[in-house]
Amino acid sequence: MDASPSGRRDVAVVLGTRPEIIKLAPLIRLLGARARVVHTGQHYDSALSGTFFANFRLPAPHLLLDGATGPWGRGAQIGALTAELARSFVADPPRAVVVQGDTNSTSAGAQAAHYCGIPVVHVEAGLRSGDRAMPEEINRLVVGVLADVHCAATERAAANLRATGTAPDRIRVTGNTVVEATLMSLPEPAERERIAREHGTREPYVPYVLATVHRPENTDAPERLEALLTSLAALGAPVVMPLHPRTRAKAKEFGLERLLDRLRVVDPVDHPTFLALADRARLLVSDSGGVQEEATVLKKPLLVVRTSTERPEAVDAGFSRLVEPGPPLVAAARALLDDGDLDERLRATASPYGDGSASRRIHALATALADGEPLPRIEAGQ
Ligand code: UD1
Ligand code: UDP
Repeated sequence: MDASPSGRRDVAVVLGTRPEIIKLAPLIRLLGARARVVHTGQHYDSALSGTFFANFRLPAPHLLLDGATGPWGRGAQIGALTAELARSFVADPPRAVVVQGDTNSTSAGAQAAHYCGIPVVHVEAGLRSGDRAMPEEINRLVVGVLADVHCAATERAAANLRATGTAPDRIRVTGNTVVEATLMSLPEPAERERIAREHGTREPYVPYVLATVHRPENTDAPERLEALLTSLAALGAPVVMPLHPRTRAKAKEFGLERLLDRLRVVDPVDHPTFLALADRARLLVSDSGGVQEEATVLKKPLLVVRTSTERPEAVDAGFSRLVEPGPPLVAAARALLDDGDLDERLRATASPYGDGSASRRIHALATALADGEPLPRIEAGQ
């Protein structure tokens, strides 16, 4: 394992939610003894957090905050986490701080580091949906201003950053770490089959749909959540739905729990189980960011139940398509379920998110930054 020149854990990796743990896991493993894992506590349930540390055999967080969750909203959460992180960075300054994605934890991590004078590496930089109503879009914009090194997954993300004035020599196109995370977690084919049988299908094989929903645009308005759950029950195939706690809470609040009875609802599953279920599904339906990327690695069709996406590459490559809940979702799903040539077409299409080397490239960038060395260039195929 790489140790820092001083022998300290001098690269702080700040994370707080399920997708951050998954996408930073390969980098944390590469950083080895240099990684200082700082968990904000935003996701506190084991099913959204501890499980993934176990899946990737990560060390327990070196610092665990209390998440600043509560009824006061995102301003209070980001503010409280920023303050707590800043205190810890002042007490024991890391030489670089890595943040990933677009959550409240990402924003707090980047703010705390920047205000403490510590350089920031942003993993999955440059995504833009253009929708300022999404908390994630604002978090991306904030982190984009603060970061010193922007690890863009694609050329398009790099272009978004250049268009907002980011210095080109601070941007590197690395690919998305989700590719290697997926390859690390995906079980062997026989195990995938076993998991799918256990969760999704009866004998003989019944084509099923795997669905996840957790975005506020889908969960926080009762009519929209009702339309979505109603249409999922009408797709003409069984729907397996690992239920995010946010969605469960909203379904209860709005009195929509009876609609869940028509779906095969399970608690959130671990990463290998989710990927196995996705791999054996006939179709994915989701509003998740990570699932939009994983679909391109697993070569699966995905209907994205959202009005905008910051991941247009998956749409352009033919893996995913935006749909409205209700009749458009039902019609699009039925057409895909009946499309016999689809699998072959998608199998022949490369993922736009890279080749599984993103974490290795980001490791080189983060350690160069921490060591005060020039940022390495990234050549094609490197
Ligand atoms: C957060 C991120 C979102 C990301 C998602 C990944 C922000 C603004 N949102 O959304 O970008 O896609 O994580 O899953 O940062 N809850 C639990 N147990 C937990 C965590 C949350 O029950 O361990 C419930 C609570 O009721 C909480 C609600 O889920 O109020 C929402 O949690 P929160 O972390 O605010 O947002 P997510 O919807 O999870
Ligand atoms: N995921 C999982 N178990 C589940 C649902 C999702 O392991 O029950 C994984 C999925 O494979 C993807 C990630 O969680 O890697 C996506 O997280 P989420 O949808 O919560 O957040 P987003 O990507 O939208 O920010």
